[in-house]
Amino acid sequence: MALLIKNGEIVTVGAREKADIFVENETITRIGKDLDAPPGTEVIDATGKLVFPGFIDPHVHIYLPFMATFAKDTHETGSIAALIGGTTTYIEMVCPNRNDDALEGYKLWKSKAEGKSACDYAFHMSVTKFVKETPGELREIVADGTSSFKIFLSYKNFFGVTDEEMYHTLRLARQLGVIVTAHCENAELVAQLQNKLLSEGKTGPEWHEPSRPESVEAEGTGRFATFLENTKATGYVVHLSCEPALKAALAAKERGVKIFIESVIPHFLLDKTYAERPGVEGMKHVMSPPLRAKHNLGVLWRALNRGLIDTVGTDHCPFDAEQKLLGKDAFTTIPNGIPGIEDRVNLLYTFGVKRGRLELERFVDAASTRPAKLFGLFPRKGTIAIGSDADLVIYDPEYRGVISAKTHHVNNDYSGFEGMVIEGRPSVVTVRGKVQVRDGKFVGDRGRGRMLKREPAYF
Ligand code: URP
Ligand code: ZN
Ligand code: ZN
Repeated sequence: MALLIKNGEIVTVGAREKADIFVENETITRIGKDLDAPPGTEVIDATGKLVFPGFIDPHVHIYLPFMATFAKDTHETGSIAALIGGTTTYIEMVCPNRNDDALEGYKLWKSKAEGKSACDYAFHMSVTKFVKETPGELREIVADGTSSFKIFLSYKNFFGVTDEEMYHTLRLARQLGVIVTAHCENAELVAQLQNKLLSEGKTGPEWHEPSRPESVEAEGTGRFATFLENTKATGYVVHLSCEPALKAALAAKERGVKIFIESVIPHFLLDKTYAERPGVEGMKHVMSPPLRAKHNLGVLWRALNRGLIDTVGTDHCPFDAEQKLLGKDAFTTIPNGIPGIEDRVNLLYTFGVKRGRLELERFVDAASTRPAKLFGLFPRKGTIAIGSDADLVIYDPEYRGVISAKTHHVNNDYSGFEGMVIEGRPSVVTVRGKVQVRDGKFVGDRGRGRMLKREPAYF
């Protein structure tokens, strides 16, 4: 069915205009004033609303075997939560561990999503070892439309790669025209600091941050940049959390290294005192890199508004309270991760745009347009233009609500952002022209989501 969205204020990077949007066959076919529509068209009045391109979360974990357990969401629960929060596409990390075969892992991750996601999705392929089969397998995965890799410099002996493996991965990525995303922390230092702290009887969640201090992240970021520089590959630092790591990435950018930066919503809003709360309350806020000292939050907001931080993702990774208690005797066994897929857009709008920290267009850029451009989805996704997929968020800036695990849709029994007041939320969300969400409720097709095939572009 055709769809006409009337009288909204369309916000894209570089333009704001009051206009109507007409959608047919999943795509935007007309944009203009006072558009008419053939009989049978569904008409939505967007008077007083902002109309954004569907938001893209460039970093999520849905299926994730990790730290002796599994992240809680399925593609069904995760995609519905995403859509209610205005995210119409997410990119999931395929994360086989070092003992697994990459191609088998890729097929397994794909099978978990197929027919289950209510929003569109793509994958980053983690390279967690580099053996003789790796180049052939990665070529096959890229040919299947997954044109971005992921490496972990941390999580020694599980996901983590050695410097030698990082080198070979980046060389191959350069040949294939693939961007490489990286979790940048020094694995050896983390392992040694963890052992030291535990041997001193320091076992609670408050010791998670001291076991992975800012300098350890800065070293990982700097080393990744140096490897990019010497392989001429293009890289993307995921979930950057602190000023020293930011300085390392920006210094590299300054000398011409092709490096982009993502931070994730917890690092803009939560500081390390959340993880210092006693017992399971602290454990709920354990993620890596860890929540940091408060002054970093302002540093990240300013860098984001200036476009020095390119994107804002979530690193969505839900573990419930019972799972977090796996770490009750040692912070090193607390499953790392905080959910965020449902709240990213509303939190960024409320605490960024509404608080005057983030220009409206930069908000759209960081949470939609730039992820689309960096990961080969633009202009199909990430903008409102003729020919683009009709993934649209009709946003109500007058809405007021409170984030709570009691009302959220993520499959988890807590929210890291419990009690935060949001000033705005999507009132209608469409995926390729089909209304999937209305006023905070999922009203659409559960299996509508498609895997997005992406061409390599970094030659
Ligand atoms: O704490 C986190 N970030 N958990 C998920 C795995 C990762 O490092 O992205
Ligand atoms: Zn990570
Ligand atoms: Zn992650």
